[in-house]
Amino acid sequence: MKVSVIGAGNVGATCADAIAFRRIASEVVLLDIKEGFAEGKALDMMQTATLNGFNTRIVGTTNDYSKTANSDVVVITSGIPRKPGMTREELIGINAGIVKSVTQSVLEHSPEAIIVVVSNPMDTMTYLALKSSGLPKNRVIGMGGILDSSRFKCYLSMALEAPANDIQGMVIGGHGDTTMIPLTRLASYQGTPISQTLNAETLNQVAADTMVGGKTLTGLLGTSAWYAPGAAVATLVDSVINDQKRLYPCSVYLEGEYGQSDICIGVPVILGKNGWEKVVDVNLNDSEKDLFEKSAAAVRNMNSVIAEMTA
Ligand code: NAI
Ligand code: 2OP
Repeated sequence: MKVSVIGAGNVGATCADAIAFRRIASEVVLLDIKEGFAEGKALDMMQTATLNGFNTRIVGTTNDYSKTANSDVVVITSGIPRKPGMTREELIGINAGIVKSVTQSVLEHSPEAIIVVVSNPMDTMTYLALKSSGLPKNRVIGMGGILDSSRFKCYLSMALEAPANDIQGMVIGGHGDTTMIPLTRLASYQGTPISQTLNAETLNQVAADTMVGGKTLTGLLGTSAWYAPGAAVATLVDSVINDQKRLYPCSVYLEGEYGQSDICIGVPVILGKNGWEKVVDVNLNDSEKDLFEKSAAAVRNMNSVIAEMTA
C-alpha cells in the first residue's frame, strides 16, 4: 500500500516516520515545495530502516506529483503552522490556497485516493478539499479529533495517576480551542465512568486543559506540536489502509447526522478501506447537543470566509 504525505515539515515528516516505524504501508512518498527538503527527510528516515527494523520504502520529492501516483491514501499537511498568539483560524487565508491547489495536484495522479486533511483550520480545510474536489464524501477525512482525544486521555491519566492506555475518552466538535468538546460524561477507566472517580472540578480542569492542548504546546515550542499530531495521522491511516474499522472522531461531511448538514466537523466514525464508512451516534445529552450546535455554528462561520472557493 502506498501513502503520500504532502508537506515534509514537522507533522508530515513525523507522520511518515510513524507510518514506516509501525509498518503501516509498504511505500511512503514525502513531497514538499522546499527544494531538497523532502528528499533529505526521506533519506534520513531510510537510514533508520535497519535500526528500527522496517522495510517501508520512503521517497522524497520536491513538488513532483508524478512520484505520488496511485497512492491509496494522501495526507495533506502542507501550509503554515500556528505561531504563539495565533489561532488556527488566522491561518485560513494562506492555507486555503495551498490546500485547494495541492488537492487538485494529488487527484491528477491518484484519482482513487482517500484524502486526509491536517492543515489548519482543519475542519474548514476538510470542507474546502471536499467541495473543491467533488470527491465522494467518504473519501475526505479531517484529522483533529484523534489528536484531541489522545490529549484528553493524557490529561485524564495524569489526573487519575493511571496509564493512559487504560482510559477511554473522545473529543468531538470542531478542532479549535473553543469549539472542541471533550466528552467527560462518557470517559471511562477500564469500563468505570471516570466521573465516579474524579470530581466535577477536576474533570472540568481536564476538559479545559484538553481544549487548549495545542495552544499550550505552541506557547512552549514556538510552533505547533508534531509528535502527537504525526502519530494521530498515522493511526488514522492505519485504520483506513488496513481496513481496521476502528472508531475515532474525525472531521467528516454531515448530511443530517448530529443535527447538522453541509459542514465538516468532528464526530465518531468507523474508519476502513472505503475511508470513513459510518457515523456512530453516541447519544449526546441536551447540554452536549447544545455545545455541538455552538461548535458547528463557529465552524460554519469560519467556512463562510472561503465561501467563494467552495461554491
Ligand atoms: P511546518 O511548517 O513544519 O511544515 C509545513 C510544510 O508544508 C513546510 O515544509 C512547507 O514547505 C510545506 N508547504 C507549504 N506550502 C506547500 C505546498 N504548496 N506544497 C507542498 N508543501 C508545502 O508545519 P507543521 O507543524 O508540519 O504543520 C503543518 C500544518 O498542520 C499546519 O497548518 C498546522 O497548523 C497543522 N496542524 C494540524 C493539526 C491537526 O490536528 N489537524 C495538528 C498540528 C498541526
Ligand atoms: C494542534 O492541535 C495546532 O492543530 C494544532 O496542535
